[in-house]
Amino acid sequence: MAVTETQIVELVDAFYAKIRADSVLGPVFDRAIAPESWPVHLAKMYDFWSSVMLTTGRYKGNPLGTHFKVEGLQPEMFARWLGLFNATAGELFPPEIAEDFRVKSERIAESLKLGLFFRPELGLMIRPSS
Ligand code: HEM
Repeated sequence: MAVTETQIVELVDAFYAKIRADSVLGPVFDRAIAPESWPVHLAKMYDFWSSVMLTTGRYKGNPLGTHFKVEGLQPEMFARWLGLFNATAGELFPPEIAEDFRVKSERIAESLKLGLFFRPELGLMIRPSS
């Protein structure tokens, strides 16, 4: 059973509502994304998850490079991010689809964490210059 684009929009909207209300992650996102820029961020995340789950290729970005610029990002925050993400997927979807999101989100989180904190020299090559 494949996830639909509509379900991806529901997941992203519900997840970032939780993120913005979170005492640890909320402030990190507030610093990085101005209130009027949230629709742009959400649209990017619909594209990202559409590319990951449905291989639509709609997302054209550089997640590792972007996260190098996120002020206050700490390695321990990934477990919290994943906790909220998987709780949201579990609330919205049947177990099979929620599990698919869990596996993929954990794999991507791990590779971001490795790139950011355990191979920081990568930032010299891919960090955007601005
Ligand atoms: C501790 C965990 C995380 C924090 C605090 C965090 C924070 C952020 C912030 C603040 C932005 C917006 C940056 C900007 O526009 O200037 C962002 C963008 C993004 N995040 Fe995360 N993130 C985390 C984990 C993840 C994970 C695990 C994924 C994927 C599974 C992810 C995927 C993305 C993507 C695709 C973007 C858009 C990048 C682009 O601009 O193309 N993030 N994140």
